[in-house]
Amino acid sequence: MERTFLMIKPDGVRRGLIGSIVARFEAKGFKMIAGKLMIISDELVRKHYYEHEGRPYYQDLTTFMTSGPVFAMIWEGEDIIKLARFMMGSTDPEKAAPGTIRGDYATRMNRNVIHGSDSPENATREINLFFDKSELISNE
Ligand code: CDP
Ligand code: MG
Repeated sequence: MERTFLMIKPDGVRRGLIGSIVARFEAKGFKMIAGKLMIISDELVRKHYYEHEGRPYYQDLTTFMTSGPVFAMIWEGEDIIKLARFMMGSTDPEKAAPGTIRGDYATRMNRNVIHGSDSPENATREINLFFDKSELISNE
């Protein structure tokens, strides 16, 4: 079993997409083991997106990510890191296939509704950044 960190970004929360997005991962057979609505601090967003510092879109990205609540989650399932990224679709919604989350709900790169970890290392790092161990519900 693998774990990943997924986060509905402020645009997704604002647009009322939490339920529809969560439903897709539930329908796929994955299990949510932690979830919370939260407003992220500048410090947290900088740690989360540290790899992007210095890129032309970085300022917009960090401002946007702290502009309203996000819905942060940990999900569990077989091959979930790769499969969740597949369900999310390409980073650029113009290239994301219909049927994917970004393909169905987004039109712009900088308002692409959802984040998902891209590797086991980043999944562990991001889970630890956003959640305390006591917040995980894992034995069932
Ligand atoms: O989110 P994902 O892992 O698919 O893409 P990324 O390359 O790790 O970029 C992180 C986030 O930065 C994206 O989801 C976009 O919100 C934002 N971004 C952007 O606004 N413009 C770009 N040219 C690249 C990324
Ligand atoms: Mg990424």
